[in-house]
Amino acid sequence: MEKKTSYLYILSLLIFLSSSELCQSIRCHPEDKKVLFQIKQHFGNAYTFASWNPDTDCCYWYIVKCDPRTNRISRFNLITADDVSGHIPDTIADLPYLQSLTFHKLPNLTGTIPSSITRLTKLTSLTISWTNVSGPIPPFIGELKNLTFLDLSFNNFSDSIPPSLADLRNLNGLRLDRNQLSGSIPESFGNFTLSLQYLYLSHNQLSGEIPKGWGDLPFIFMELQRNRLEGDISFLFGKNKSIQVADFSRNLLQFDFSNLQFPDDLGTLDLNHNKIYGSLPEDLVNLDRLFLNVSYNRLCGKIPSGGRLQELDYTSYFHNRCLCGSPLPDCK
Ligand SMILES: *[C@@H]1O[C@H](CO)[C@@H](O)[C@H](O)[C@H]1NC(C)=O
Ligand SMILES: *[C@@H]1O[C@H](CO)[C@@H](O)[C@H](O)[C@H]1NC(C)=O
Ligand SMILES: *[C@@H]1O[C@H](CO)[C@@H](O)[C@H](O)[C@H]1NC(C)=O
Ligand SMILES: *[C@@H]1O[C@H](CO)[C@@H](O)[C@H](O)[C@H]1NC(C)=O
Ligand SMILES: *[C@@H]1O[C@H](CO)[C@@H](O)[C@H](O)[C@H]1NC(C)=O
Ligand SMILES: *[C@@H]1O[C@H](CO)[C@@H](O)[C@H](O)[C@H]1NC(C)=O
Ligand SMILES: *[C@@H]1O[C@H](CO)[C@@H](O)[C@H](O)[C@H]1NC(C)=O
Repeated sequence: MEKKTSYLYILSLLIFLSSSELCQSIRCHPEDKKVLFQIKQHFGNAYTFASWNPDTDCCYWYIVKCDPRTNRISRFNLITADDVSGHIPDTIADLPYLQSLTFHKLPNLTGTIPSSITRLTKLTSLTISWTNVSGPIPPFIGELKNLTFLDLSFNNFSDSIPPSLADLRNLNGLRLDRNQLSGSIPESFGNFTLSLQYLYLSHNQLSGEIPKGWGDLPFIFMELQRNRLEGDISFLFGKNKSIQVADFSRNLLQFDFSNLQFPDDLGTLDLNHNKIYGSLPEDLVNLDRLFLNVSYNRLCGKIPSGGRLQELDYTSYFHNRCLCGSPLPDCK
């Protein structure tokens, strides 16, 4: 009898010890867990969050990830969910260790970007794309100084671009394409640091000229097509530049194309539907990877012979004032 009791005692002690060891191996921080439940509740306990079970370690939940060092929630990636409706919850800012925040392909996500987001000082990547979030892009986004990547594409943002975005001194990629942005590109954007290499502002209603300071920035990728941009962009090009893809098609650009030079790595130069005049620069024959489209402009003269220029389709050149020579008909 006595022996049996002590045996049971030892057994329960063992169970206690192993369960307390289990407790220690739970990585999730209780504060983070509480906030995640508030977010789940904010979205009406949508099915998307069904796996967020209070009895399990939140570091292993769908949508979120913990930092391996701090065990705090560092990533929140909510993507492709029809049942997530309403606005971005203020409580998202109560996950103070967030480095990456993504809301992507959420057709029923609406409202504006909450100002609480400025508390997320560790954010390096912010994506709100393919949603119905709207309103002006709030100037306070410029306070998220650690951002290296900002993607606000494919939403319903309107009004002009806030100059304060140029305060993001670590930005490597900026996407504001496919919104309803208007006004001119802020002059402060000429002040971006040398870290900015990927810029997408296409499919908006941006007008005016591009910032002069862009001549000094090491852009690799620029997509600014389908706006109402005016003036001269020739200072973006030159042997010394790093630009590989430049799409400025369907704008109102007006400049002399004749004597430009290009970096050898230039792959795509799409300038169709502008008011560009002069002739095709001779340097184009030196570019081995070139895809060019200068259709629907006001260019004249013979297409230079060599490089890829004769391999391109005639539709790369048609609808100009008087371009001629292969692949267009011979010059008269
Ligand atoms: C979300 O939007 C889709 C249409 O995009 C609609 O059919 C659906 O009912 C919406 N769901 C909710 C929960 O609002
Ligand atoms: C915005 O909402 C409309 C209507 O509900 C929907 O058709 C559209 O797909 C949504 N946009 C995005 C980018 O999800
Ligand atoms: C950027 O993040 C670091 C830690 O990751 C933090 O110490 C710093 O305060 C942040 N910078 C700003 C301007 O918030
Ligand atoms: C997008 O914004 C425009 C006004 O800028 C508004 O008329 C339209 O209803 C918005 N669309 C959605 C789906 O919110
Ligand atoms: C550009 O930066 C300089 C120095 O940081 C500042 O003096 C100037 O006002 C800025 N220009 C714009 C248009 O923001
Ligand atoms: C090109 O860069 C070199 C050094 O990298 C510099 O010496 C030269 O002045 C630059 N040329 C132009 C036209 O900017
Ligand atoms: C060049 O652009 C024009 C106008 O958008 C288009 O019709 C044509 O197909 C394009 N050509 C090529 C080769 O992409």
